[in-house]
Amino acid sequence: MVKLSWALGTLFMSIAPTCVSAEPPEAGLQVAIEKCSGCHAIREEGLSPNPWAPPLRTLNTRYPIDALRENFLKGMEVGHQDMPILILAPEEVTNLLVYLRSLDPCGKPSSDKAAMRKCFAPVGNGNQ
Ligand code: HEC
Repeated sequence: MVKLSWALGTLFMSIAPTCVSAEPPEAGLQVAIEKCSGCHAIREEGLSPNPWAPPLRTLNTRYPIDALRENFLKGMEVGHQDMPILILAPEEVTNLLVYLRSLDPCGKPSSDKAAMRKCFAPVGNGNQ
């Protein structure tokens, strides 16, 4: 029995780290503050300083967050006239995507029923 629980303990230890989301979103928030906040709202609330720039928290209603990686790496050649060409380092992109994902209320378990309802509403039915 002692042996079994030791084995289970070891198993748990070796699996646990992969279950926990790797990086905290803070590094990505830093990237957003430095590179995006001049135009985009970057928090869970608030309006964008540039009214044409969608709040970053709304991106996940329009794109799968991972699909943005390539664009971010290439410097966002998405044909947005007012948007400067931003070249981000690969780790900045990774951090930024972790942060963007953390803004998605549907990406985390929640006991907030109103927030959860929004996750299942048709796209475009949010406030943006
Ligand atoms: C100088 C202002 C400015 C900065 C800085 C800026 N953006 Fe933008 N961004 C805009 C504007 C304006 C638009 C909308 C342009 C349009 O729709 O034609 C936009 C659009 C986008 C879009 C496309 C949204 C869509 O719905 O198609 C993404 C994604 C995006 N920005 C991400 C970022 C990220 C990430 C950063 C920081 C690394 C950033 N932007 C920095 C001004 C900016």
